[in-house]
Amino acid sequence: MRIRQCCKGLVGKLNIPGDKSISHRAVMIGSLAEGVTEVRGFLAGQDCLATIECFRQLGVIIEQTGTAVTVHGVGLGGLKPPQQELYVGNSGTTIRLMLGILAGQSFPARITGDMTILRRPMQRIIEPLSLMGANIELQNGLAPVHIHPVKQLHGINYVMPIASAQVKSAIMLAALYAQGKTTITEPQISRNHSEIMLNHFGAQIKREAQTITISSPTELQGKNVCIPGDISAAAFLMVAALIVPGSNITITNVGVNPTRTGIIDVLQAMGGQIQVELRHSEAEPVADIHVRYSTLRGTAISGEIIPRLIDELPIIAVAAAVARGETKIRDAEELRVKESDRIAAIVQGLRKFGVNITEYDDGMDIQGGCRLQGAIVASEFDHRLAMAFAVLGLAAEGETVVTQDECVSVSFPEFKQKLRRLGAPVCD
Ligand code: S3P
Repeated sequence: MRIRQCCKGLVGKLNIPGDKSISHRAVMIGSLAEGVTEVRGFLAGQDCLATIECFRQLGVIIEQTGTAVTVHGVGLGGLKPPQQELYVGNSGTTIRLMLGILAGQSFPARITGDMTILRRPMQRIIEPLSLMGANIELQNGLAPVHIHPVKQLHGINYVMPIASAQVKSAIMLAALYAQGKTTITEPQISRNHSEIMLNHFGAQIKREAQTITISSPTELQGKNVCIPGDISAAAFLMVAALIVPGSNITITNVGVNPTRTGIIDVLQAMGGQIQVELRHSEAEPVADIHVRYSTLRGTAISGEIIPRLIDELPIIAVAAAVARGETKIRDAEELRVKESDRIAAIVQGLRKFGVNITEYDDGMDIQGGCRLQGAIVASEFDHRLAMAFAVLGLAAEGETVVTQDECVSVSFPEFKQKLRRLGAPVCD
């Protein structure tokens, strides 16, 4: 993807693809429910399509046409043994949440993914599932994962060592198959889409402060699910508008669940003119977001806000590179085990544009506001890095080339088209 410096502002009103986390959960929980689940606003990106494919292999009939998906749920006890190894592609959410479901089945299964999945930590999922009675084997602590059948899982009280919605969700899904109650305590609150969707489908989930309690339901009931736009995709357009002078955009129908809106809090604290106009608040709150070009200033990001913006740190680093003064990011060591080592990759990528940046084990210091020079940067096959570097290219002098950019299809297949529609000089 080639990007030239943007000389005139980005202007327009647009929508963005459906939320990735919610799309996965709609297919998974819909598959485990009785009857039909109609999903609208599904994200037809590679990751969520991998989830559909895995459930088809488990005997669930799923029809998908663009953003409309019909899941013919088979009930909690209705999954069938897969005929071959399940393959999740690049999707950490698929493999980790599916482990929770597969742990409680009466048939064996193997599950694996692409080269990035083969280096991402799985022990964090296996530990609580084993305490529930699951029998799961890793290869040197990593995928491929072999799940052996067990008679019956049992509930546990689990205090999570890290804030991870994937770990929490895997335990909650396994709890659907466990005898007795399960309680999960999070160190910090992470995204709560599993809790919301399981409640919507009829499970009983209670939260008190940082502890969630779930008992195995007799059944889940198929429902209609309307998925809002993904704030993690909107984040790239928000920062693009903030850093290109003269910009004024509106992004419609964005999910603004408070467990995900750390990006808005941080960009506003940096001086970003962002207005959130709440549209409705049913299962998940939805808003239109108005963004204008702003003079940004550096900030400090650490502690409990981190899980609320973990996927947005690459694009926050881009905003920080343009902002005046220093931005400090800490407590973000989880970035090292995402689709790539995002701390190392952001540091290397931003340096190519001329940014003065210091790497730490759990974050970075970014000196913003210096002259940015267009660069040739590799995405490291990481969708969020490809998009973040492309956005920085809009504010850099000369041309930027982002290589290995096919990966944007993982979460935002129309990224380039959307930027072009706002007037950005982006081409293939
Ligand atoms: C996700 C949880 C987060 C996030 C990922 C999606 C989810 O991962 O980074 O993109 O849908 O549950 P962790 O649970 O590893 O923090």
